[in-house]
Amino acid sequence: MVNKSIEIQYQVFYSLDEMDPADRELCEAAMQAQKTSYAPYSRFNVGAALRLADGRIVPGSNQENAASPSGLCAERTAMFAAGAQYPGVAMVSIAIVGGPDQSQCNFPATPCGSCRQVMAEYQKISKRPMSIILIGKKEIWKFPSLDAILPFTFTSLD
Ligand code: THU
Repeated sequence: MVNKSIEIQYQVFYSLDEMDPADRELCEAAMQAQKTSYAPYSRFNVGAALRLADGRIVPGSNQENAASPSGLCAERTAMFAAGAQYPGVAMVSIAIVGGPDQSQCNFPATPCGSCRQVMAEYQKISKRPMSIILIGKKEIWKFPSLDAILPFTFTSLD
């Protein structure tokens, strides 16, 4: 028997001004997308913005439904929209912001397991790391790849 451990690398920014212009633009798009959130049941509004390899930004927001499983998270709304509209174009990064009643949490709200699994699939077919940027009021976290937030990922290659 051996004991093993894994380490996660990520960056913490204390303001959007510290970020490079492309990432800042993506964060601003996620904050814009949050405004389109339809979340009358949870009142937790989430916005996402996905950067494609051609530079395009695809926004998404959570869309809820009275029959709750029929709703969808912001991240998957953005990824599925991109997959449907721009098939074959690699997904390179996604910025996400969430909070109650259109606010931002002090520390970033992190993507649910289902969204991470969908990110894993698109990262795999994109053949490049998908960076994940999580926006909070006090801190912004940037992970270089989906692997950092979903280690031991299950993919069809497995
Ligand atoms: N939500 C997201 O949009 N993304 C996540 O990763 C976690 C949760 C949404 C789903 C639901 O509309 C609301 O936030 C409360 O769970």
